Amino acid sequence: MIEVKDVSLTLSKRQILDHVSLQVGQGEAVGLVGGNGSGKTMLMKCICGFQTAFTGEIEVFGEKIGKEAEFPKSTGFIIETPGFMPYMSGYENLKVLADIHKKIGKEEIFAYMRLVGLDPKDRKKVRKYSLGMRQRLGIAQALMEEPEALILDEPFNGLDKGMAEKMRDVLLAEKKKGKAILLASHNEKDIEYICGRTYELDAGKVVSEREAKGTVTG
Ligand SMILES: Nc1ncnc2c1ncn2[C@@H]1O[C@H](COP(=O)(O)OP(=O)(O)OP(=O)(O)O)[C@@H](O)[C@H]1O
Ligand SMILES: [Mg+2]
Repeated sequence: MIEVKDVSLTLSKRQILDHVSLQVGQGEAVGLVGGNGSGKTMLMKCICGFQTAFTGEIEVFGEKIGKEAEFPKSTGFIIETPGFMPYMSGYENLKVLADIHKKIGKEEIFAYMRLVGLDPKDRKKVRKYSLGMRQRLGIAQALMEEPEALILDEPFNGLDKGMAEKMRDVLLAEKKKGKAILLASHNEKDIEYICGRTYELDAGKVVSEREAKGTVTG
């Protein structure tokens, strides 16, 4: 599914990623941990095709990113705080994005907005959304087209306790459906709950790979 092979990235003469290799298989949720600045977000940007200056190889569903495909196919993602059109409502934002692939329509958008606890009929503009509401909209966007892989950078950012717990269960359900999930989080509990395996980055290097304890499945 997702295969990162010997990926290095140097920006402004600084080595950001240092020979990183990892895999995420079908139905597998893999955690990505490490301190601030260890390279988690940058690695995810490389996988999603937003950062192309890396060496090595990233393959998603059999396509080499930056070579055979600009962006990974069938991959939903949240990287840092999701950006939306501020003067549109949540629904309008998702509709614009859904219209790019034309895979889903109003019904699916409504369903995913409700899943994350947003009212699809709320006319409120996204610029008036709270951090948590924005994050919820980001999760709905990442999931709504039922992608086969999910790249999630701190997806629980700004969510209240109840919603974070609900989202953990949503992600577990996605994993059980056979999706490949790569999840970066500073919250060990979230990682333990969802991920069967975890890679730790330090200064752009994978310093450990371990089985997470106490995983519910996998
Ligand atoms: N556009 C950029 N140009 C140059 N260096 C960058 C750029 N963006 C990030 N970096 C550097 O890359 C390194 C890795 O950053 P990254 O955002 O991947 O860390 P992270 O593990 O996601 O940290 P956090 O836990 O704080 O989110 C940091 O040293 C950061 O300063
Ligand atoms: Mg980060």
